[in-house]
Parts: sequence; structure tokens; C-alpha cells
Amino acid sequence: MAEEKKTSMYDYVNAGFVALGMAMGEKVGLFDVLIKLSEDGSWKTTEEIAAAAKLKERYVREWCKAMGCADVIEMDESGVRFRIGAQRAVELRMAVPFATFVPLLSQVFGDIESCFQPSGPNGVSYDKYTDFHKLMNGLTVAAFEPMVLPCLFIQMPDLEEKLSSGIICLDVGCGLAEPSRNLAKKFPNSQFYAIDFSASSIAQAKELASKDNLNNVHFFAMDATQLDKDWTNKFDWVTAVDAIHDQAHPRKVLKEIVRVLKPGARFSMIDVKGTSNAYEDKKTLGSGNSAGHYMASLFHCMPVSLYFDGGEGLGTMWGAAVANELLAEAGLLDAKTFDTDHPVIMAIAVPPNSPTDAAEYFGANDIKEGDGELSTLFAKPGITITYTVDGRKLHDGIPLASESPDQLWKGLLTRKAICQLRSMATADENSCK
Ligand SMILES: C[S@@+](CC[C@H](N)C(=O)[O-])C[C@H]1O[C@@H](n2cnc3c(N)ncnc32)[C@H](O)[C@@H]1O
Repeated sequence: MAEEKKTSMYDYVNAGFVALGMAMGEKVGLFDVLIKLSEDGSWKTTEEIAAAAKLKERYVREWCKAMGCADVIEMDESGVRFRIGAQRAVELRMAVPFATFVPLLSQVFGDIESCFQPSGPNGVSYDKYTDFHKLMNGLTVAAFEPMVLPCLFIQMPDLEEKLSSGIICLDVGCGLAEPSRNLAKKFPNSQFYAIDFSASSIAQAKELASKDNLNNVHFFAMDATQLDKDWTNKFDWVTAVDAIHDQAHPRKVLKEIVRVLKPGARFSMIDVKGTSNAYEDKKTLGSGNSAGHYMASLFHCMPVSLYFDGGEGLGTMWGAAVANELLAEAGLLDAKTFDTDHPVIMAIAVPPNSPTDAAEYFGANDIKEGDGELSTLFAKPGITITYTVDGRKLHDGIPLASESPDQLWKGLLTRKAICQLRSMATADENSCK
């Protein structure tokens, strides 16, 4: 009986070395040079490649042979001539930025080793990762415009029109703010606010925006757990790109996002395609892909969150099920998860969440927009209610009276929640008084 082919342990180790080589190729510009030299389809010698890249031929030769053996670049039968075809160039543009994370995350190898120890630190500070924001931006550049944006526009057909006519947007945990700068160029009538608690990433983002003469993007060094107090109900669209799972206090951040959304506005969370179950992740993402992202989590996303007091340490692979629990807890219900064409990026879109929806269920005469009438209808001070929507528990034992009516409107009252509340009220009046 034929034996099932499995990746050997040795293959995994070798793949690590190949990724290191890919990161070096990116760093010294060899991919860019070879892609350009290969545009006419011709093979190049290492002398030609080294001359074009202005690098030492002996080092270029060893690199090309390694990359050729790995099929990262093409190698002809002579073993000394190389090229990168158009299709491979597209694949490399997406994969190479992730390869740069291998040397990046190796910087903290010793720190992570200490974190394993019972007496060691809880986590690792962002400062320990030299160039993190720049390399992270490389990943976002590779994914956002080609794969994430088309997906958002397909899923939210009115968004492009709204952006064209002019809306106010906020990106939370923006890093170098590729999405905001990209959209600011495309949609000059809209305003783009972008915040990050890293002052250096904000400085770099500003510099990049000023190179492009953008005056509709506004950067703030700000903690996402405490967004500007004057931003309540300010934004039409809030995004968080790869930024919620590594928050120390993601629940607080999501509540802040709810506060700054206008009624009827929407939130889009771009994150890693996980299922919240490692066995399922292996099946859906594949063995290498899922393992790679759990490792990226161990070396970065989890420890940067755990570094802070009370840091939750969700990890890169927190997955859609946990994400939906946190969104629901913040009052963002009915989120829809969809795949992008990227191998590991999903988007979760939370639909407009407005009092108008509530009015539809209760009759426009019963409910006036935003007057908080429902909070008095269903909750009296000191009474606690457990909400479930589609079997998912939302607020368990939280005194409703502690929520402001405004939060109640924007947070809890989507259609499904209202339906559920209504039936709870009918079935057992006491539980909702
Ligand atoms: C994985 S990076 C993503 C950056 C950017 N969105 C992108 O896609 O390139 C996460 C970002 O969240 C920022 N961040 C983490 N915690 C934060 C907080 N509490 N407030 C603001 N920014 C935070 C980090 O500085 C980092 O830039």
C-alpha cells in the first residue's frame, strides 16, 4: 500500500533556511533586480545579476543557487542561469514580505525563551522588534490593494459610492497607514483619520503621506483604548487592519470603536483567517500555513499583547469564532465573515447598526431614534439580563442599567437582538422588567 506522503521534519527546517534567504533577497534588492532583468523572459548569469544589483557576484551566486534549488526562482539546466517569470513575480510579491518576518522575529528569540520560564516576563515590548512597523507595512501593501479592498467593495456595494461622495473614516492601529493613504489618494472627498500608539510609526506614516501631498489624511499618536473624547459618533466607517488580535485590551478597543461610530455606520475588521480551533485551522489553511501563523503569534502578536498589564494575549490565530464573541460583547452583532483571495486574510464586516432598524421591529411610534426608550422598556436598575442571539451568549449578568442608552442603541439593538428581546419579554415578562 502506498504510504501517505508527509512533509519530513527535515523539510520544515530547510524551509526555514529558504525563508531566511528570501528575506535576504528582499533586503539586498535581488528579487526586484531579477524580476526586472527577466521581463523579456531571458535567463541571466550571476555576473549579470550581480552587476545590475551592484552586489558581490560570489554572494549573489550562492543565493541564486539556493533559491533555484528551492524553486523560488527559476534555474536552467546549466545550473548557473536564472530568471523570475511573471507569474512567480506575483506570488513573490505576496510571500516575500512574510519571509522578512523570519529575521525580524528571530531578534526576540532570547526574549521569548525567557517568557516561557515561569519566573520570566509576561511578554515582549514592541521596542524589541527593530523595523517592525516598516516590515508590517510590507505585508499590508502586498495584501490591501490587490486582495482586501476588492473584497470590501464587493461585500459592501455602496461603500465606494459613499467614499466618492465624502465620508469620515478611522483606521485603528494603523502602523504606517497603507490603507488610509491608499484610500485618501483614491477618494479625495473623504477624510481619513488614522491612529496608532507608536509615535514612530505615526511619524513615518506622516512622512509617506506628505511625499504624496495628501491633505485628507490625519494622523494621531493615540491609544486605541482611549480614543479622542470628542470623537463620539464621528465616523462613517472604522477599520482595524490586522490590529485587534494583538491588542492588550481588545474588548476596550472594540467598545471605543462602538463609541466613535455614527449611528448607522459600519466597522470592518481585517484579520487572519482562523477558525478558533487549531485542528480546523490545519484543515482549512493547510499545515505549513497554519503552523507558520501560530509561530508568528508566539514570537510577536501574543507576547506584545501579554507585555502589558492585564494583556489578553489573544494571538494571531484567535479566529472568527472568538472574534465574533468579542464583537458581540462590544455590541457589534450580525458580523459577516468573508474570505479575501489572500491565503490567510479574512475580513469581518459589521453591518450598519441603527435605531431605524429597531424602529422597524417595534413600530416607528413606539420607538423614537436614540431616545433610549428601550433601555427603560427592558431594564430597570439592578436587573440583569442574559442575552442570547442565535444561541450565542452576549451579555451575561451585566446590569443593563449600567449601559448608557446610547450604547444600548448602537450596541445591542440590531434586528436579531431586538427580536430576541421582544420574544423574551413576551415569554417571561419578569425577566425583562
Ligand atoms: C500588526 S500591526 C498592524 C499595523 C497596520 N494596521 C498594518 O496593517 O500595517 C498592529 C498595530 O497596532 C498598533 N497597536 C497595538 N496596540 C495599540 C493600542 N492600544 N493603541 C493604538 N495602536 C495599537 C501597533 O503599534 C501596530 O502598529
